[in-house]
Amino acid sequence: MVKKNLVFSGVQPTGNLHLGNYLGALKNFVSLQKEMECIYCVVDLHAITTFQNPMELKNNVLETVASFLATGLDPNKSIIFNQSSVSGHAELAWILNCVSRIGWLNRMTQFKDKAGSDKEKASVGLYVYPNLMAADILLYKATHVPVGADQKQHLELSRDIAQKFNKDFNCKDFFPLPEPLIPKNISRVMSLRDGTKKMSKSEESDYSRINLKDSPDEITKKIKKAKSDSEEIPDNLKSLENKPESLNLINIFAEISKNSLENVLNEMSGKEYSFLKTKLTDLIISEIGPVGQEINKLLKDKSHLEKVLKKGKEKANIKAEENIKNIREKVGLI
Ligand code: TRP
Repeated sequence: MVKKNLVFSGVQPTGNLHLGNYLGALKNFVSLQKEMECIYCVVDLHAITTFQNPMELKNNVLETVASFLATGLDPNKSIIFNQSSVSGHAELAWILNCVSRIGWLNRMTQFKDKAGSDKEKASVGLYVYPNLMAADILLYKATHVPVGADQKQHLELSRDIAQKFNKDFNCKDFFPLPEPLIPKNISRVMSLRDGTKKMSKSEESDYSRINLKDSPDEITKKIKKAKSDSEEIPDNLKSLENKPESLNLINIFAEISKNSLENVLNEMSGKEYSFLKTKLTDLIISEIGPVGQEINKLLKDKSHLEKVLKKGKEKANIKAEENIKNIREKVGLI
């Protein structure tokens, strides 16, 4: 039997998505939608592993949906919904909590980073977060999972869990082992202020990131202020090794202009960074300006966004229920 390909990915409802989310995830989602069946989930249950203000959480879920639509995800092609609306996620997560091993979770580097120095005070949810992620994927028997490089370890855990389930319950190939799809060039868009850190919503300075909703003025200011180099742009990548901020700007330029890093360096070597910055500003404004405008427009009609979620939930639930029925059967739950 030929297994059908199915893409699943989840995005945390942080609100205020930025250029890193756009280049590292959303754009990729849109191109996958043309080739395969895709399910894109706003993972609100993952969000609450750290405390969320309830009103803000609701708004952030809707804003994430608006960003999906504004980038070109089509609810008639892809399934777009929020995690908590399909109860199969939480149910399968429980079952997988019983398959996954404490030793496996203890190796997760993201928990260590997120829990910080006082692990005793982290929520239990944050600890079992990767099991819920495995449940998201396995609930639909997804075969391909587009994620950033930082999620690779969680995806490997999902494969381990799938494998152990198949073995424990004597059902070879029941869960397919999901493959990560990690963007090659732009696995990381870095902070404009500190090129060793990922561009992130949580970094204090708004100058560290380009938000999808930034106005052309804001984009211009932020790129102008972005850290670079007083030396000229070099003609080789090696010279950029210890200049992560400069490399990041060139990387972003290459990605949006659909060019290789080498070509960009060929074209720009010997020029000042201000030259690159002017071009980069224009490029970013023309690429994400319309996206930001569309997000703002969509946010004016919340009931439309809620309808998109409701329709997605209905479609997701049909698939989830069918699978969860078989999963219960395998485990021996009546
Ligand atoms: N943990 C992922 C992140 O922070 C989000 C996520 C949750 C996810 N469930 C998923 C990604 C399932 C892919 C598949 O980016």
